[in-house]
Amino acid sequence: MAHATGELAAADIEGYLAAHEHKSMLRFITCGSVDDGKSTLIGRLLYDAKLVFSDHLAALEADSRRVGTQGDGLDFALLVDGLAAEREQGITIDVAYRFFSTERRKFIVADTPGHEQYTRNMVTGASTADLAVILIDARKGVLTQTRRHSYLVGLLGIRHVVLAVNKLDLVGYSQEVFDRIEADYRAFAARIGLTDIVAIPLSALAGDNITTPSSHTPWYGGPTLVGHLETVQVDDDTATAPFRLPVQWVNRPNLDFRGFSGQIAGGTVRPGDRLRVLPSGQESTVGRIVTADGDLPEAVAGQSVTVTLADEIDVSRGDVLAAAGDPAAVADQFECHLVWMADEPMLPGRPYLLKIGARTVNATVAQPKYKVNVNTLEHTAARTLDLNEIGVCNLNLDRAVPFDPYTANRHTGGFILIDRYTQATVAAGLLHFALRRADNVHWQAVEVDKTARARHKGQRPALLWFTGLSGAGKSTIANLVEKKLHDQGYHTYLLDGDNVRHGLNRDLGFTDADRVENIRRVAEVAKLMVDAGIIVLASFISPFRAERQLARDLLDDGEFLEIHVDAPLHVAETRDRKGLYAKARAGQLTNFTGIDSPYEPPTHPDLHLDASGTTTPQANADTVIDHLHHTGILTPPELTSPETP
Ligand code: ADX
Repeated sequence: MAHATGELAAADIEGYLAAHEHKSMLRFITCGSVDDGKSTLIGRLLYDAKLVFSDHLAALEADSRRVGTQGDGLDFALLVDGLAAEREQGITIDVAYRFFSTERRKFIVADTPGHEQYTRNMVTGASTADLAVILIDARKGVLTQTRRHSYLVGLLGIRHVVLAVNKLDLVGYSQEVFDRIEADYRAFAARIGLTDIVAIPLSALAGDNITTPSSHTPWYGGPTLVGHLETVQVDDDTATAPFRLPVQWVNRPNLDFRGFSGQIAGGTVRPGDRLRVLPSGQESTVGRIVTADGDLPEAVAGQSVTVTLADEIDVSRGDVLAAAGDPAAVADQFECHLVWMADEPMLPGRPYLLKIGARTVNATVAQPKYKVNVNTLEHTAARTLDLNEIGVCNLNLDRAVPFDPYTANRHTGGFILIDRYTQATVAAGLLHFALRRADNVHWQAVEVDKTARARHKGQRPALLWFTGLSGAGKSTIANLVEKKLHDQGYHTYLLDGDNVRHGLNRDLGFTDADRVENIRRVAEVAKLMVDAGIIVLASFISPFRAERQLARDLLDDGEFLEIHVDAPLHVAETRDRKGLYAKARAGQLTNFTGIDSPYEPPTHPDLHLDASGTTTPQANADTVIDHLHHTGILTPPELTSPETP
């Protein structure tokens, strides 16, 4: 098979490379299912771009004859489906990115499965695309899945849509059918804000209007698919946006050079431009724009550069350099769209890692305001988000971050949430706006602080966190410890699971979400008590690592002690004073820890107590007291300096 680009390459390799290097790049995503002819279309694009290697082609011809779905013709779907089948063997079905190029442009096409259970894959593919090809089977018209794909495309900020009305050969190349589908689609698309739509009548199989205008559609005067993809203008948006450079790393090879490296996420920069460093707000002027190929007089969105500043100001990894006249906003509370991508549901109140640009912070998500039915676009009430669900939620960050609304800049307004323990991406998010309450609620400065209160009590405040199965003996040991401390004159308070659930947390049950909220509230209360100068003992199953970590993070270093009261399940079960294990075993009580609800033991507790029965509760309580002496928590304050009671 002739290989046009290959011949050109052989004849003038330098010229060929140069030509390719200066060609622009279009990233697009194809939306549709195999039934719509998506695989055939992608196979056809690759084939017509002559980028299918000749040995693949020989295999394709043989396969097509063998499978015989297309008579003597080539079955382009075989090119793609082989890969799809492979992918579906795996646990995660990823996005397949294919690269091809024509004489005029380079392309990266993200190919994602079309079914609803693959929403997360489509979102991943769409998040970097400039254009979406939405495939429609001419015999079926606009379907539920067309609406779902279009909604996601719009949500992810893809402005350019090609409505590929495929299989036109099967409806006799009917203009009427094509016009009706286009009108249907435009009416729907307008509702979700998609306006830049080019509808093209196609047969991917027969090759109509792919690279050359088809004689079967004389009534159609628009571009061919490849013609449109080669010429459509898409890159103006980020280039004309205000300048943004998320700093990936601070480049300091020697004392004479300090530059800030990263990929420009928006706008243009030139030496002499005034920039503001976010979140600090300090300003300076651009000195040089350094690249591997030498200094540049100007750099634009998409380029990776190192920028130097005229002044020695503080810039760290994760900061954003922004146009001083049009800087990004800085906030720690937001409304956002979340696309949930994990098998485990979202847990309101659980801390996740949030990565935006080059910055990673802790974030908790509040209960969703609503979730979106991606098929009907209806909003419905929700307590959580499950895999592939999309909702609107408020976010709380532990530090302020620079950001733009996602609609203004996909790079500085998009983020991901990461599980702190598995490091898996659990959600993709799009920022809407900062919450006003962040501006209107301030810390009230108080004259009497923790140090002063603790000094009055002559003690160091701390939080002793007892975790373990129901029946492990947490409350018994915590009780003994409190008594010993109390007898020695310390000011203490014991927060106990059963007791707190009679008052403050009366509204909570034992679902994962309720346990997360239980521990979040208890941790906040314990923090206030520590702030009051008290030695707090908390006795809760607290089955999840993430929430125990949350409690630790709320306190200062050294104030939090995680104490694992470790009894094997079969031992805890024999101490079933309340008869709850028996009920759980009998199926009369659901979500019971150790039976049908998980317990994640601490991996590195500050103190591990053997509660299997070989050590008495008294001895375990003594171990705790010894540990408190050993770590200095019970060190008499007169032995420490006044600043650190
Ligand atoms: S936690 O998981 O949210 O930390 P917490 O310590 O407050 O639980 O409450 C545990 C106590 O509630 C247990 O000691 C037990 O007496 C009671 N309880 C009732 N139902 C359950 C259940 N399904 N799972 C665990 N404990 C339960």
